[in-house]
Amino acid sequence: MMRTKKASASRNAAIMSDDEHDLFPANLLDRLPNQRQENGLLVRPLRTTDYDKGFIQLLGQLTDVGHIGRDQFLNRFHSMKSAGGHYVIVVEDLEVGKVIGSSTLVVEQKFIHNCALKGRLEDVVVNTTYRGKQLGKLLVTTIAQLAKRLQCYKLSLDCRDRLIPFYEILGFKREPGNANAMNMRIEAISEQSRL
Ligand SMILES: CC(C)(COP(=O)(O)OP(=O)(O)OC[C@H]1O[C@@H](n2cnc3c(N)ncnc32)[C@H](O)[C@@H]1OP(=O)(O)O)[C@@H](O)C(=O)NCCC(=O)NCCS
Repeated sequence: MMRTKKASASRNAAIMSDDEHDLFPANLLDRLPNQRQENGLLVRPLRTTDYDKGFIQLLGQLTDVGHIGRDQFLNRFHSMKSAGGHYVIVVEDLEVGKVIGSSTLVVEQKFIHNCALKGRLEDVVVNTTYRGKQLGKLLVTTIAQLAKRLQCYKLSLDCRDRLIPFYEILGFKREPGNANAMNMRIEAISEQSRL
């Protein structure tokens, strides 16, 4: 869907109330092939009001989320927003006013490669009742194009073995000699890491 920047800005202003904030400027998603309003679905940045649209429950279909209160959600939202480099996108089903898909691009600032930017794809999830409708694909391709727009030199991810075919369909490759994900699990979570 082609829209001018002005039209896009006024559209966002029209649908957002004073206490609603986007995590990042919505126009970064303009002219990416991700606008599916004709199907009643919209890809957009995470918003403060998504706490009431099932965002946390959706993440619960990805992993253990814990009990996150509204204040905790808003604190983390604003901390991500002020830190920059966090691009959480959601798919909203406009008919029911629910967030039914989400994914995140984290942009890492490097010194290497002439102070390059590297993207990481995180937390891809589609609500169970909406799976198999190409929405996972829509989320990943949107993140890939956003990474390109932000001039990341590469986009990487970790995933469960069973999801390797899903990401291969979408253009990710296990590079020979460079296909290992390693983790060190930290037992006790310090107060600092909760900030
Ligand atoms: C993985 C997930 C995001 C896929 O979402 P989805 O909306 O059902 O996927 P799509 O409909 O966009 O599928 C796109 C393509 O990938 C394929 N695909 C989907 N899931 C797959 C899987 N687990 N393994 C292999 N291929 C898969 C589809 O068949 C489709 O292929 P096609 O284009 O040839 O038709 C979804 O199953 C999910 O939320 N799972 C739980 C959370 C999770 O594990 N997230 C990944 C964390 S790394």
